[in-house]
Amino acid sequence: MIEIDAVHPNRDALARAGRILRGGGLVAFPTETVYGLGADALSRAAVAGIFAAKGRPATNPIIVHVATTAEAIGLVASWPEPAEQLAHRFWPGPVSLVLPKRPEVPDLVTAGGTAVAVRCPAHAVALGLIEAAGGPVAAPSANRSTELSPTHAEHVLRGLDGRIDLLLDAGPTTGGLESSVIDLTVSPPRLLRPGLLSPHEIEAVIGPIAVGAQPADAPPEPARSPGLLERHYAPATPLECGVSTWSRVYELCRAGRRVGWLSLTPPLENLPGLFTIEMPDDAKQYSANLYAALHTLDAMRLDRIVVERPPDDEDWLAVHDRLRRAATRGEGIG
Ligand code: TXA
Ligand code: MG
Repeated sequence: MIEIDAVHPNRDALARAGRILRGGGLVAFPTETVYGLGADALSRAAVAGIFAAKGRPATNPIIVHVATTAEAIGLVASWPEPAEQLAHRFWPGPVSLVLPKRPEVPDLVTAGGTAVAVRCPAHAVALGLIEAAGGPVAAPSANRSTELSPTHAEHVLRGLDGRIDLLLDAGPTTGGLESSVIDLTVSPPRLLRPGLLSPHEIEAVIGPIAVGAQPADAPPEPARSPGLLERHYAPATPLECGVSTWSRVYELCRAGRRVGWLSLTPPLENLPGLFTIEMPDDAKQYSANLYAALHTLDAMRLDRIVVERPPDDEDWLAVHDRLRRAATRGEGIG
C-alpha cells in the first residue's frame, strides 16, 4: 500500500503502479465514487485476475476507465450524439456509458456481450494511473463480489488484502456511491444502475430515459445489467430498512440485541446496545457517507443494522437501490 496525495499525486508512485498494470497485475485506486480494482483492460489475462480476486461471476461485465473522451471513442464501434453530450457535460465524472464495443476489447470485460461500459473518472490519482498504464483500465469496485463497496483504503484491505499487487491510498472518496450506468445502445437510453448522477441530471442533457432493468420480454442482449444481481452492496450484518424505525430499534435493544441504527433523527433515549449514526438529510451528502457508515457498523459485529428509509424523492434513487440490495429478507426479532 502506498499513500498518495489525492490532488497532486506523486509521479514515481503512479509510474510504479503503471508498471504493475502493464505487467498484467492488479492495482486498487481511488476514484471520485468508490475505490476501483484496476487491470489492463486490453489484456484478457489481466482482467481474469480481477474476476479471481473479487470472486466475481463471469456474467458480470466490468467498466473500462479512460483518461480522455478520445480514448473512450477508440474503444467503441459508434459514438452517438447522447454519448458526446454526456461526456462533454459530465466527464471526468460519475457516469458510465454502455456502447457497442470494438473487437480489441476482450469478451471477458463485457461478459461475452457486444457492448462495453466506458467512464472517465474525476480523480487525479485515477487519471494519472490510466496515463501511467498507457491505456484503458478495467475496474470494478474494489470489494469481494456482493459485499459493500469501499470508500476508504482500509475497506479495500478488509476484503482484498493479499489478493492484489498494490493499493494507492488517497484517503476517503468524496462521492461515496458508484457511477450511474446508462445503456446508449437502446432507444430511449436506459439507466441500468442508478448512481451519483440522478435521472433528472441525465435527462436535462439528453432528454427522456428509461429507468430500471429491462422488461422480461426484451431480447437477452445486452441484458447483463447490474439489476440481475439482487443481493449486492451488502454488509455481513443482517440489515433491515423501514420507516419510523425507532420503535423497531427499541424492541430489538430491549430484547438484548446489539443494534446499529442509521437514522435521520437523534435517538429518543439512550438504549443499552444501541449505536446510532445520524445521517445527513441531503441525498448527495447521505450518499457520500452511506458505505462508510455501513462499514463502521459492520466492523462492530452487531446483531442487526436498522436503516431509517430516506424520502421517496428521485434524488434518493441510488440510495434506495443500494439499501434494497443490502437488506436481508426474513425479519422477525432474531
Ligand atoms: O463508480 C463506479 O462505477 C465504480 C468505480 C470504480 O468506477 N465502479 C463500479 O464497478 O462500481 P462495478 O463493477 O462494481 O459495477 C459496475 C456495474 C456492474 O454492476 C455491471 O453489471 C455494470 O456496471 N456494467 C459494466 N459493464 C457493463 C456493460 N457492458 N453492459 C451493462 N452493464 C455493465
Ligand atoms: Mg461493485
